[in-house]
Amino acid sequence: MKELSLNILDIAQNSITARSTLINIGIVERDNTFTLTISDDGCGMSAEMVKNVTDPFCTTRKTRKVGLGIPFLKMQAEMTGGSFSISSKSEAEFPDDHGTITTAMFYKDHIDFTPLGDIISTVCTLIHGAGGIDIMFTHESEIFDVKLDTRELKEVLGADISLSEPEILSWIEQYLSEQYNSYK
Ligand SMILES: Nc1ncnc2c1ncn2[C@@H]1O[C@H](COP(=O)(O)OP(=O)(O)OP(=O)(O)O)[C@@H](O)[C@H]1O
Ligand SMILES: [Mg+2]
Repeated sequence: MKELSLNILDIAQNSITARSTLINIGIVERDNTFTLTISDDGCGMSAEMVKNVTDPFCTTRKTRKVGLGIPFLKMQAEMTGGSFSISSKSEAEFPDDHGTITTAMFYKDHIDFTPLGDIISTVCTLIHGAGGIDIMFTHESEIFDVKLDTRELKEVLGADISLSEPEILSWIEQYLSEQYNSYK
């Protein structure tokens, strides 16, 4: 994939499929490292599934026999000399505390580092497609600190307004780009 933001969309899509109510997307850039963490409170996976999930032939998809979201992200992180991990608690085993955490660490100065790309559009696409699932997005680096929490937006806007309204999405887009442009 040409942009890491598309991988993020893919991993977050897994969280949506897993019936999450909150998806937390965090990016931390420090010196030469770029760390992406996506966590959710969805149905989770069994220990057996987690062990196999980085194998492309491991999928619960019904439409095709391979699932590529996780293996791709792992490959992209490892290509830069970085690392990948996934941990999960299944709803069956942990009824009150279930979900999945996916972490990928990249080295930014490696020639195979995939640029993040248009993360603002990705976050907006996700909010639009998430059907009311809450999204928390944070991106911190030496120069900026970006944060968006749809729970806070909903509190301000009230229950009647959908975050998928075009005006709201364009406001979110502007809100994020202002944060990227206002340096610490
Ligand atoms: N956050 C998650 N919560 C619960 N199960 C998950 C989660 N992420 C992945 N899985 C399980 O792991 C499988 C593999 O995920 P992966 O993203 O690699 O492929 P896929 O979603 O099946 O297909 P693709 O991403 O190519 O559309 C999924 O089918 C799903 O069963
Ligand atoms: Mg997937």
